[in-house]
Amino acid sequence: ASLVTVLFHLGEMATATQSLDEDTFETLGAELGYKIQIVSPEDEDKELLEGFGLDLEAELEAETDEELEPRAPIVTVMGHVDHGKTRLLDSIRKADVISGEAGGITQHIGAYQVRHDHDGVTRPITFIDTPGHEAFTAMRARGAQVTDIAILVVAADDGVMPQTVEALNHAQAANVPIVVAINKVDKEGANPDKIRQQLTEYNLVSEDWGGDTMFVNVSALQGMGIDELLDAVLLTADAGLDLRANPNKDARGVAVEAHLDKGRGAVATVLVNSGTLRVGDSIVAGTAYGRVRAMFDEYDNPVEEATPARPVLVIGLTSVPGAGDSFIVAEDDRTARQIAEKREAAERAAQLAKRRKRISLEDFNKA
Ligand code: GTP
Ligand code: MG
Repeated sequence: ASLVTVLFHLGEMATATQSLDEDTFETLGAELGYKIQIVSPEDEDKELLEGFGLDLEAELEAETDEELEPRAPIVTVMGHVDHGKTRLLDSIRKADVISGEAGGITQHIGAYQVRHDHDGVTRPITFIDTPGHEAFTAMRARGAQVTDIAILVVAADDGVMPQTVEALNHAQAANVPIVVAINKVDKEGANPDKIRQQLTEYNLVSEDWGGDTMFVNVSALQGMGIDELLDAVLLTADAGLDLRANPNKDARGVAVEAHLDKGRGAVATVLVNSGTLRVGDSIVAGTAYGRVRAMFDEYDNPVEEATPARPVLVIGLTSVPGAGDSFIVAEDDRTARQIAEKREAAERAAQLAKRRKRISLEDFNKA
């Protein structure tokens, strides 16, 4: 019997060129004695890596308490257009306690670490320099959860706006704690309490109002309140996050930004999640691969290694990875290349399937 007939008996009217949705496809498969499995790209990639003896989840689960060491919190700045995200990231860069002697943090790198004096201890905090929830969403869509804490910037003269809500929804959905920075408090007519009030509707209740979210008044323009904001980030990290990682293994992490540089070729800012990345390592980031030729920190100083939560600029990749692509150190150059090539093939197949969107009965008949 033709598939159209089978479908007819299943109560589905279809023509030979029609596309089927996933459910119908599964029913049809069952009827014909096939088990139809619809595989997500994440599962597919997991399987691909397992083919190379890499099971990243199992690896993390196997880590013992003694192997874990404290790492810096990783922070993303989010908020509505024009509320001061970029300005705030600039002020934070300038607030770095060692920035002066080191010559200042450069703008070349997509993430940076500042050192902040907190309760008599100097501690690092890592900032991802691509503000906005787009980067955050893009990374999450690729399965990368790189953010530990989100700073939600709300301009005191403008209040809660659509993208403020979007941003906080994203953070809450990802279970990422939020620190609220009420910005532009230097402006006339700025009303921080109104923002506090507005945000209660979204379950963000300030500590002094009996909630558990830290609110800090800042002026990114004047560099006011930045120390308090960094304190709040560390307090939030200490209150409920277990920020530890095993530095003593091959590095696994995420490319947070990448571009083509005229002189240096493909450069990528990467954040190590666990392990230690070293010059000379063979790496794969998405479909890009290569050997780490050199690494630079946020002061443009060459570094030999990067430990967890330490952002570095990596040189040596054959192509530019996407923002949010995960990276891993592979056993050798050949393995790195093979993983990259397999991923590229998988991506091409997925693109093709997407273009067709659905599988028509004709394809099924041919198969
Ligand atoms: P997009 O990237 O376009 O979404 O904006 P943004 O959130 O990065 O805002 P940006 O930092 O570019 O600031 C927007 C405008 O607000 C600029 O003109 C800033 O100078 C100004 N601004 C930012 N912070 C403050 C502040 O604390 N006080 C005052 N008065 N102005 C500020
Ligand atoms: Mg900006």
